Amino acid sequence: MTFQGLVLSVVSIVLCRAEVDTVTQRKVVEVGGNVTLSCLLTGSREILQVTWQKKNNNNNENLATYSLQRGVNVVDKYRGRLNFTRLSLNDTAITFWRVRIQDDGCYKCLFNTYPLGPIPQDTCLTVYEELRGSLHYTVSEGNLTATCLASAWPRPVITWIVPNAEGTTEEVQHANGTISVISKLYVNSSTSLLGQELICRVQHMEKNKDYSVKVKRGQEFSVPWLVTAVALALLFIVVVLAVVCCRRQRKKQSESRAS
Ligand SMILES: *[C@@H]1O[C@H](CO)[C@@H](O)[C@H](O)[C@H]1NC(C)=O
Ligand SMILES: *[C@@H]1O[C@H](CO)[C@@H](O)[C@H](O)[C@H]1NC(C)=O
Ligand SMILES: *[C@@H]1O[C@H](CO)[C@@H](O)[C@H](O)[C@H]1NC(C)=O
Ligand SMILES: *[C@@H]1O[C@H](CO)[C@@H](O)[C@H](O)[C@H]1NC(C)=O
Ligand SMILES: *[C@@H]1O[C@H](CO)[C@@H](O)[C@H](O)[C@H]1NC(C)=O
Ligand SMILES: *[C@@H]1O[C@H](CO)[C@@H](O)[C@H](O)[C@H]1NC(C)=O
Repeated sequence: MTFQGLVLSVVSIVLCRAEVDTVTQRKVVEVGGNVTLSCLLTGSREILQVTWQKKNNNNNENLATYSLQRGVNVVDKYRGRLNFTRLSLNDTAITFWRVRIQDDGCYKCLFNTYPLGPIPQDTCLTVYEELRGSLHYTVSEGNLTATCLASAWPRPVITWIVPNAEGTTEEVQHANGTISVISKLYVNSSTSLLGQELICRVQHMEKNKDYSVKVKRGQEFSVPWLVTAVALALLFIVVVLAVVCCRRQRKKQSESRAS
């Protein structure tokens, strides 16, 4: 065999394999959006049916099938928000509408061929939910507690950019899949932080977002503003009443002196 011949046969083996090999695609979609996954099988083979499955740990879950004899069949769980959008045995696509966090994962399309049997292809779907975060702090008797909240999917990661501080982190997963991470930072003796910036850095989808607040003087004695406002109003009334009383008193005195 010549060198060229060898190269050619190697290339054709690679090409033949590529035709059957699983090429993993990845689609990214925001929760609530629509997304289409597709698979293509080149070459002339007799395809009896295409089956779409969701890959779970060990057993794959059937989602939908298409064959010439039986047409389209979508399992109950997905009916109404998933359907075939390309109806061909060698060129298939399914669309998800109103994507949920639970749809995140990998999928498999199986071309059921005769006589070779099933030929699988893999495709993965990454669902994300926009990050929503917040940061605030309270000070009580010189102890500062900063609370950073981040809700998103996939799981956001919180780090604090504050020296000499320790925090606790907990997380909650809501029924719809959203994860809320709550991190609390405790600093005893907030005066050392006066004028400093507290920064809560949230990592989500390989991006960082910083939330920051400046520690203000006076927070140590902070009382809800309503209480302060009421106290000031009371003080004002007392002062006004005192002034009015004094005037009356004086008037009476001068009147009694005059008579
Ligand atoms: C998703 O598809 C529905 C129905 O076709 C359409 O009304 C909606 O606007 C689409 N949503 C997005 C985010 O494209
Ligand atoms: C898919 O099958 C049709 C006929 O069944 C054929 O005409 C077409 O070329 C095939 N497509 C590919 C990409 O092999
Ligand atoms: C799903 O797609 C098939 C083929 O295009 C169509 O006949 C069927 O009506 C669709 N089903 C729904 C629920 O839209
Ligand atoms: C402030 O922190 C110290 C120790 O960190 C604790 O003993 C004390 O009870 C805290 N005070 C308040 C008001 O939380
Ligand atoms: C999921 O649920 C949480 C809590 O109920 C809510 O804040 C969030 O907006 C929901 N996310 C979506 C995508 O509906
Ligand atoms: C601040 O923390 C240190 C140890 O971390 C503790 O020894 C000290 O009592 C605390 N001070 C206050 C005012 O809570």
